[in-house]
Amino acid sequence: MSGLHVGIIMDGNGRWARAQGKPRWRGHLAGVDSVRDVVRGAPDLGVTTLTLYAFSSDNWKRPRGEVGRLFWLLREYCQRERAELVENGVRLTQIGRRDRIPKSALAELKKTEQATARGRRLHLRLAIDYSARWAISEATKRLARRVEQGRLDCKAISCDTLRRAIANGVPDPDLIIRTAGEQRLSDFLLWEAAYAELYFTSVLWPDFRRGELALALSEFQQRERRFGGVLDAGDAAATAVGQ
Ligand code: FPP
Repeated sequence: MSGLHVGIIMDGNGRWARAQGKPRWRGHLAGVDSVRDVVRGAPDLGVTTLTLYAFSSDNWKRPRGEVGRLFWLLREYCQRERAELVENGVRLTQIGRRDRIPKSALAELKKTEQATARGRRLHLRLAIDYSARWAISEATKRLARRVEQGRLDCKAISCDTLRRAIANGVPDPDLIIRTAGEQRLSDFLLWEAAYAELYFTSVLWPDFRRGELALALSEFQQRERRFGGVLDAGDAAATAVGQ
């Protein structure tokens, strides 16, 4: 049975560290604890796919030292959590570019992807060196190549063709959460988020644990999702004919 897909823009590590008088990387370190807790708690809250924005393609603009720490944390996370992820039925995959990820982090990531491939309880997707615009342009390139090779008729390209090329069978996110008060998508899942509910909280990522996720999900359950339609088709038909 497929449950909910939740995407999270994990923001506020730097502010959390500053508030504690600590260097920025300590915020990222505490952020990993939140990742661990949210991954542990998500399946019991009905989440079957969890996409975490861990490193955007724009994050390369950060100081070298900070970028290095982030990839070190990623490597450590993969190494330390692998056995538990397997045990808990979590399948970990990465979305985004792979060619710029430092070798040692990529090696651990690949090992974890392989080791967890049979996980069925939760699909954990780490967005690393990720840009939604890049993902859309890559999918477009793949389709263009098929047209060029005569394997795809240009006229047959529809939203569905693009959806399959971009999302690779993963259902669209139902809910996108952003922590730390900012209210924007920052190049995260732009195509897939067409009908996602958005939830913004001022809680900084290192303070966001499974209880915060439960809160976001309970607000999500109150939302009316109409996907452009109406809730009661009978009422709508009556209104349409002026009754
Ligand atoms: C945003 O906070 C957070 C990031 C750019 C990185 C998120 C990374 C982690 C939580 C740790 C590594 C993840 C895994 C999966 C091991 P910010 O630095 O932009 O905070 P600020 O806006 O307060 O400065």
